[in-house]
Amino acid sequence: MSKLYLVGTGPGSMEYLTLKALEVVKSVDILVGSRRALKLFGDFNGERVELGARNVDTALKKAVREVSSGKNVAILSTGDPGFSGTLKPILKLIKNMEINLEVVPGVSSIQIASARLKLPWDDSDIVTMHGKGNSLDVLKLLDNGKPTLILPNRSVDELAAFLIKNGVKPSRKVAVCEKLSYPDERIIKTTLNKVLGMEFSYMCVVVVY
Ligand SMILES: C[S@@+](CC[C@H](N)C(=O)[O-])C[C@H]1O[C@@H](n2cnc3c(N)ncnc32)[C@H](O)[C@@H]1O
Repeated sequence: MSKLYLVGTGPGSMEYLTLKALEVVKSVDILVGSRRALKLFGDFNGERVELGARNVDTALKKAVREVSSGKNVAILSTGDPGFSGTLKPILKLIKNMEINLEVVPGVSSIQIASARLKLPWDDSDIVTMHGKGNSLDVLKLLDNGKPTLILPNRSVDELAAFLIKNGVKPSRKVAVCEKLSYPDERIIKTTLNKVLGMEFSYMCVVVVY
């Protein structure tokens, strides 16, 4: 029976790819992923489908169609597919269908940020706002004494402005973990107000202490 794999590719560098991810990708006919994820598998010989901001729905539907017609397909998901990744939309898409699905976990950006900051993540709260919009729910967590690890909606600057506007002290300690695992990785420990107006890539995990 053909299979659909959701493969976590880790934070970006080859070093954090699992042997299982490499083995699964070798075995499939079609590989679907963002340009940065596909780059990790330069020697893949099958069909490649590039996921961009505008074709996510159509590319995921195509992946499911191809599996239904007998092909093995892997969808690459940065970090871990189960955290703010492709698992949720795929589950929605294949509901009521007989699709053989396997999830291959990857190292999440949350895990590598925790490792860099030497932060036990069982004592932290983890929130994603990525692509969902800033949510006031986070404010309840920020006063419970635990660090909060946040994937921002769009940018670090927007998140800092949102938190300050909603009453979080501008002097609150934060860490911004940018481009984790890449050669130009940066870890900046500062305060919320100092983050305002600073330039960061979209690839950031923000920790509010
Ligand atoms: C669609 S979410 C995917 C999260 C992913 N499934 C995970 O487990 O890390 C994309 C967001 O994850 C975070 N992210 C992914 N890779 C990152 C990296 N290498 N460094 C810092 N943040 C990263 C950024 O906040 C980025 O905007």
